[in-house]
Parts: sequence; C-alpha cells; structure tokens
Amino acid sequence: MMASFITLIISLVGLVTLGTLTSTEARAFFVFGDSLVDSGNNNFLATTARADSPPYGIDYPTRRATGRFSNGLNIPDIISEYLGAEPTLPYLSPELHGERLLVGANFASAGIGILNDTGIQFLNIIRITKQLQYFQQYQQRLSSLVGPEQTQQLVNQALVLITLGGNDFVNNYYLIPYSVRSREFSLPDYVRYIVSEYKKILAKLYELGSRRVLVTGTGPLGCVPAELAMRSRDGQCDVELQRAGDMFNGQLVQMINDLNSQLGSDVFIAANAFRMHMDFISNPRAYGFITSKIACCGQGPYNGIGLCTIASNLCPDRNIFAFWDAFHPTERANRIIVRQILTGSPDYMSPMNLSTILALDART
Ligand SMILES: *[C@@H]1O[C@H](CO)[C@@H](O)[C@H](O)[C@H]1NC(C)=O
Ligand SMILES: *[C@@H]1O[C@H](CO)[C@@H](O)[C@H](O)[C@H]1NC(C)=O
Repeated sequence: MMASFITLIISLVGLVTLGTLTSTEARAFFVFGDSLVDSGNNNFLATTARADSPPYGIDYPTRRATGRFSNGLNIPDIISEYLGAEPTLPYLSPELHGERLLVGANFASAGIGILNDTGIQFLNIIRITKQLQYFQQYQQRLSSLVGPEQTQQLVNQALVLITLGGNDFVNNYYLIPYSVRSREFSLPDYVRYIVSEYKKILAKLYELGSRRVLVTGTGPLGCVPAELAMRSRDGQCDVELQRAGDMFNGQLVQMINDLNSQLGSDVFIAANAFRMHMDFISNPRAYGFITSKIACCGQGPYNGIGLCTIASNLCPDRNIFAFWDAFHPTERANRIIVRQILTGSPDYMSPMNLSTILALDART
C-alpha cells in the first residue's frame, strides 16, 4: 500500500518534470569551438584532426567512431541529454535538414582556436569566423522552413556552448620552441590578446541572436598525457602550461563580467573547465579513476605520444581512466564536468550554474 503510494508520488513527480520539459519542447542547442566539443564536422573535411576511426567511439551507443574525440559521449551530448534533446548534429552532416534543424546544430571543428593562425598544421578546419558564418547560414535555412520570427525566437531561446583557447596554446604559442607568437608576445601579453579576440567572438554571437551562452576556457593544459609525455620528467603537470591556462581562465571570467555588464544581462556564463578538470586530476581516486596521468588509448610515456589508433594501447575499462587519448577526457570524466556545469558553485560557474539558468528561463 505504502509502496504503491510512493510509486504514485514518484510517477506524478516524473510527469511534472517531463511536463516542463516538453511543454516548450526542449530548447535548441548550438555548439561552437574545438575538439572538446566537435561532434563530427571534421569527418567531412580534408584534415588530419579527425576521430572517425576506431577505437574512437568504442563506448558510443552505436560502437562506431563518429568524429567525437571521446570513447563515448562528449560534453555537448551530455548537455543535450539534460535538455531532454537529441544530440545536435554536426553542421556539415547531410542528415541535418528539415525538422532536425529545430534541435540546433554543432559547428565545432577540432584543431581550431581563437586566432586564425592556430591549428594551421591541420590544414582544412572550420575556423571560428567560418563557424559564425555557418550559424548565419543555418538561420537562413531555418527561416525558409519556419519563417523569420520563429527562427529568431528559437535562436534567442537557445542554449549555446562555446569552447575555445586550448589550441591557441598547445597548437600555436607552445607548439614549437620559439614559435612566431611566442617571439611576438610575452605570455601575459598573449593572454590579453587572445582574451580580447575572444570578446569580439562572443559579441558576434550576441549580435547573431544568442542570449544564453556557456563559455569555457582551457582545461589544465600542463596535465594532459601529451604534455606529461613531452615536457614532464617526474609526472608532475608542466608549470608553464598550467600558468598559461590559469591566467587565461582568470581573464576570461573578468572579460565575461565586463561584457555582461555592458549588455545589462547575464548572457555569458563562464564555465571554469580548468578547475573542473583539476578536481579529478589532483585526486583521481576520489572520482573512481585509477589514473589521471595515463591516457586509455595511445603509446609511449603516459600513452601521450602520437594519435590514438587501432594500433595503440587500449585500456579495457574506460570508466577508470580520466583521459581517453593524449588530450581528451573519457565520457566518464565528461560526465563529471557536465555535473559541475549543471550544479557547480560560483567558483565553477560564474555568475551561475546551468540548473539555475534553466530554472530562470523556464519562468520567463
Ligand atoms: C580571421 O580571419 C577572418 C576572415 O578572414 C577575419 O575576418 C578576422 O578578422 C581574422 N581574425 C584575426 C584575429 O585576425
Ligand atoms: C546552482 O547554483 C546555486 C547558486 O550558487 C546553488 O545554490 C545551487 O545549489 C546550485 N545547484 C543547483 C542544482 O541548482
């Protein structure tokens, strides 16, 4: 009797929750940035920055490589899950047409950065300016389907995620000793420069109709298996790269605060990816990982050298590794990051977490 009463309550609560999700339909979701959030655009390009062959995708629902730089789901997929939506398709996917445009789109492209000269070694990738042009093109396509007013409403109400900055360090400033950018700028000047360029990109997103934008900076660049393999003698995170990431993230929060006060609204939300990663990197066991130094897939020290391919070492259990390949987290680690995006304190999510945003926006 009691049990069935409780079941009734639980199903009622379930209905109410579902009701709020479906009454407005899941909001659209747009994704911009680099490999941390690319869901397969690079599959359609002539580039070396790709993740479309095994063992990538080994734990994805289809068990196939999709272009995601993960063993399974990536950060946008997990956010879509919480929004109650299908994962957003890569913008270049031929499957993205008709009603599917209503779900949103993913414009991200592995290898890109804030600067145009970041990732030039990957040849044909979709630089951020081009991603923004595609966003305009997307809006024209949607408009011919549902009209300009509905399009604008969908875009204004959408959630947006943008992840940039890591490649401006590892695939530009620190790519080679005495790189062009490192001869041109001291680190503090370079950070100031890329943050000012990031600000222009965010302003453009606003101009194109975005009103809720999660902005992530870099993770702890000095701690990824690739950098441990190249720069660390004793397995400690590289101090210089950590300093770079830390400096960048600090200034990013400041820039976002400035932008929001100029706009008079909390449009941009800084997600401190650096700190979110550092939690499980500093104390992997507390998060159920056996290591945060050795990548699951790769070769050489820390499995941090070269690409993750069918010929690489592969760990049998991806749930106990924080890093999937030399640069990218496993699905399990991505879930920990998204949990913080959803529920994190202001130290992680500034000025507020995604749960608060969703609750606020549901009311208006
Ligand atoms: C990058 O290239 C685009 C398109 O060519 C240009 O509009 C933009 O100003 C460039 N950005 C920087 C920082 O040079
Ligand atoms: C989100 O942030 C708010 C304000 O910091 C906090 O009170 C709340 O516990 C966080 N988590 C959720 C699920 O809202």
